[in-house]
Amino acid sequence: MSFKITIQPSGHVFEMEANEKILDAALHHGFAFPYGCRDGACTTCAGKVLAGKVAYPDEWPLGLSEEDHEKGLALFCQARPLSDLEIEVKEIGAAKDIAVKTLPTRIIKMEKLAPDVMMLHLKLPASERLQFLAGQYIDILLKDGRARSFSLANSPGHDEFLELHIREVPGGDFTERVFHGIKEKDLLRIKGPLGSFFLRDDSERPIIMMAGGTGFAPAKGMIEQAIEMGLQQPITLYWGVRATADLYQRELVEKWAQEHEHIHFIPVLSEPDEVDNWQGRTGFVHDAVADDFKDLSAHDVYMCGPPPMIEAAKKAFALRGVDQEHLFYDSFEFSTDTLKAISGRT
Ligand SMILES: Cc1cc2nc3c(=O)[nH]c(=O)nc-3n(C[C@H](O)[C@H](O)[C@H](O)COP(=O)(O)OP(=O)(O)OC[C@H]3O[C@@H](n4cnc5c(N)ncnc54)[C@H](O)[C@@H]3O)c2cc1C
Ligand code: FES
Repeated sequence: MSFKITIQPSGHVFEMEANEKILDAALHHGFAFPYGCRDGACTTCAGKVLAGKVAYPDEWPLGLSEEDHEKGLALFCQARPLSDLEIEVKEIGAAKDIAVKTLPTRIIKMEKLAPDVMMLHLKLPASERLQFLAGQYIDILLKDGRARSFSLANSPGHDEFLELHIREVPGGDFTERVFHGIKEKDLLRIKGPLGSFFLRDDSERPIIMMAGGTGFAPAKGMIEQAIEMGLQQPITLYWGVRATADLYQRELVEKWAQEHEHIHFIPVLSEPDEVDNWQGRTGFVHDAVADDFKDLSAHDVYMCGPPPMIEAAKKAFALRGVDQEHLFYDSFEFSTDTLKAISGRT
């Protein structure tokens, strides 16, 4: 059975089968719905069901409460239609022309940037190129069918290899192998580009970029893109880490700030070591942004990093009047196959 889906506010219409997921069908028809994990956890794909009914026949998504479902909220990456639908979604203009590919890559460089951060450079086959928008991510496909997500740290203008910054997660299946097993010349299969976290380069609003730990990776790609495009609005990068040792590639950021007077860099340390003799900002990075900007309503705000940072920042920035249409984020959620294993769900 097929259903008609009407998207608001654009008025776009498409047909889909009842057994398809709404996000899959929308992307298939070339409508760029926002999404992140595609696994029901991150809520990036959330939207409203204005008319009609949806269901979650596989399993209830981790990111949706029964209460929100009753209010008409839906996670389109998991929802399937039970009827014709009218739905409300913030479509993305720019990502829709980009094909998502599954490709083999070879690790051509591995460099330890900090005690728990490894940089990988992945080379695509000679005949292939991965088109992407600055800030998007790729999935590394593991042999058993699971996937691990990592943001692209280079700008699309420099796509001769893909750069990743990988933080070692204690007990982590994949990231521990990156530090103790995987070596240069090994092959990795990837799928990408993915996600709706990318630089809105048609905006002239001042930019606040907030990164937590390896959340610096997509921020780097976006700032490099902004420099390459000659964007002139102020860009203020807040980078929250524990201690100075975690400010890997600090010299690069300081060079951006020296060479471009519209780029500002504010590192924020949560637990500076005594040897750091740190004179700069301390505390939580989102507090530093909220302290400096009493009104965020005219800014484009990008944030990327650990889920607790993203959640705290969403609340703090709402109080500063951030415009939700101009708040963009990628939350570094763990893969839900791990969460299901921890909670005993299948
Ligand atoms: C869109 C996106 C982009 C990302 N980009 C980057 C990036 O650029 N750089 C980067 O370093 N990371 C990034 N991440 C996070 C990265 O995907 C995870 O760190 C990685 O999947 C961990 O894989 P693993 O196999 O090593 O760990 P897993 O084996 O999946 O988990 C390791 C251990 O962590 C614990 N754990 C699992 N889930 C949780 C949880 N929710 N809370 C607390 N503990 C938990 C468990 O003890 C588990 O054994 C990104 C994530 C997303 C969704
Ligand atoms: S994309 Fe749907 S919850 Fe993450």
